Amino acid sequence: MKIGIIGVGQIGSTLIRQYAKAGHKIKFTNASGIEKLNALEKETGTKAVSLIEVVEDINVLVVSIPFIEIPNLAKQLCKRIATDTIIIDTTNYYPIRDGKISEVENGIFESIWVSNQLERPVIKVYNSILAGSLLKEGLPKGSKNRIALPISGESEKSKQIVASLVNDSGFDAVDIGDLSNSWKQQPGSPIYCTDLTIPELKNNFDRVQRNILALKRELALQFILKQEFTNWMNWYKDCVTNNRVVYETLLNN
Ligand SMILES: NC(=O)c1ccc[n+]([C@@H]2O[C@H](COP(=O)([O-])OP(=O)(O)OC[C@H]3O[C@@H](n4cnc5c(N)ncnc54)[C@H](OP(=O)(O)O)[C@@H]3O)[C@@H](O)[C@H]2O)c1
Repeated sequence: MKIGIIGVGQIGSTLIRQYAKAGHKIKFTNASGIEKLNALEKETGTKAVSLIEVVEDINVLVVSIPFIEIPNLAKQLCKRIATDTIIIDTTNYYPIRDGKISEVENGIFESIWVSNQLERPVIKVYNSILAGSLLKEGLPKGSKNRIALPISGESEKSKQIVASLVNDSGFDAVDIGDLSNSWKQQPGSPIYCTDLTIPELKNNFDRVQRNILALKRELALQFILKQEFTNWMNWYKDCVTNNRVVYETLLNN
């Protein structure tokens, strides 16, 4: 498959490596200049390109940038993205990092907001796994304890294609419905960054409560802010454990 990736940070760079290993043709771009991406190109046999080029002649576009940057991206790009390109949205809204976005604060689901900005349908996935787990915890299909990722969006066909990419990156995918269900995989949910297998994910999916998501998101973030950011590979498992504990605690109080 021909894949363009916008954002070469913790999530984007891992997907580049995983998709390239699975045999896909990858090009990617960042915000601050592609010269710094030479090493990644050489390592993976992929190509760093301009923002304009990254959306040309691709089947799938992965958008993996800070949530607050989506309107900037939309201004530059949305008319250029072909209507048959499947867009994967990995983003999450953290007001403490992104600043408050009134539409989201007023209740629009995050990926619906992204979709509105880009003026294209999006498939939400990879938002609910920590970069450390994405990098380190993938397993071959059929493995016991393989982590499953929730996936939401309108098009069944697009979701099947995206699920096959999720499989290529080492994870199972669980279709949780269209974007009207996507809030259930947003930060604060018990299926958000809790590294669950398919049965565990389905079980927790039934227990998501919208009224405690924002509170839980902030509590989970407090844990992250106490960690040493540059050493994120050392504490992602503690973060997963904390995410599980915080939700159970809130549910029981
Ligand atoms: N980190 C996680 O554990 C995690 C887990 C799940 C979901 N997410 C979500 O996934 C998204 C990416 O997260 P991340 O941790 O990978 O971020 P990151 O490490 O901060 O990387 C962000 C990337 O986006 C690029 N970028 C920023 N604005 C851009 C723009 N306008 N056009 C093109 N590229 C742009 C940056 O370019 P430069 O390098 O040039 O600055 C950088 O390569 C975020 O929305 C995040 O909330 C993160």
